[in-house]
Amino acid sequence: MANLVAGIKSMKLYSHIDRVYNELAELGKSGDVPLTAAELSEFDQLHYHGTDAVDHAIHMIGIDKSTRVLEIGSGFGGPARHVAHNTGTRITALELQPAQNRMASELTERCGLSANLTHVCGDILTCDWQQQQFDAIVSWLAIFHIPERARLLALAGDLLSSGGVFYTEDLFSRQRFSQAERAELASGLYAGHLPDLQTYQAEFEHAGFALERVDDMSDDWTDFTTERLRDYRAGRARHVRVHGEPTYLALEEFYELVNRHFRSGKLGGIRLLARKP
Ligand SMILES: C[S@@+](CC[C@H](N)C(=O)[O-])C[C@H]1O[C@@H](n2cnc3c(N)ncnc32)[C@H](O)[C@@H]1O
Repeated sequence: MANLVAGIKSMKLYSHIDRVYNELAELGKSGDVPLTAAELSEFDQLHYHGTDAVDHAIHMIGIDKSTRVLEIGSGFGGPARHVAHNTGTRITALELQPAQNRMASELTERCGLSANLTHVCGDILTCDWQQQQFDAIVSWLAIFHIPERARLLALAGDLLSSGGVFYTEDLFSRQRFSQAERAELASGLYAGHLPDLQTYQAEFEHAGFALERVDDMSDDWTDFTTERLRDYRAGRARHVRVHGEPTYLALEEFYELVNRHFRSGKLGGIRLLARKP
């Protein structure tokens, strides 16, 4: 796992994670001051459209108090906190990177959500779940990092109760990437699996899932990442003041890279809901 953790740090979104604490200091909420999930949501969601996207999942899956949920690749813990706070359900948030997991856990504690939300640090491909079962597996912009899709989906099938669902927002390849583009995505985005749309769906079906809903998010996410980059650059003076120049530049580089690949028409976005029969 140490190699995986070291490798994924090539993605600039995962460096300078102290930026969360810088934002909290701006809000006057340093130290162990109690927080709410809503106060964090401007900067703890590492996917597109923040909590609106999470609300969409809650609605599509029909998550309520009794749904046992596992999130794969939970990052700073933002989506899992939003689910726990808004549905009252129990959720397990799995995150590969120890530093992110520690911070996520600390923030969850400060939000008073630890009874509902359990943070686990590990690689989904090697975690031992001790016969635990879930009704829903959810994941936002994480599974493209994981190269072994067939193994991942077989594991997911084992973890889900019958009738359980796999919901993901993820990336795919709309057109063939050149070798240079692949190399850039492998490092800058730590992309481990970017199949075309047909293959993406066939892999779920092969693993025994029934596809209930597939949305191509590519155009929407192209616009989203364009606006994100524009707004981030427009706020440069503020961001440099709050975070310092190195953090500003690292995130700007990341936002530019992602947006460039969406704008080329080659990087695509997918939202998928699949059910284990
Ligand atoms: C782009 S972030 C998204 C975080 C969160 N889902 C969100 O939307 O705020 C993807 C996360 O997946 C994690 N990840 C990647 N591979 C993983 C694996 N094999 N097992 C568990 N987590 C993984 C990364 O460390 C990263 O924090």
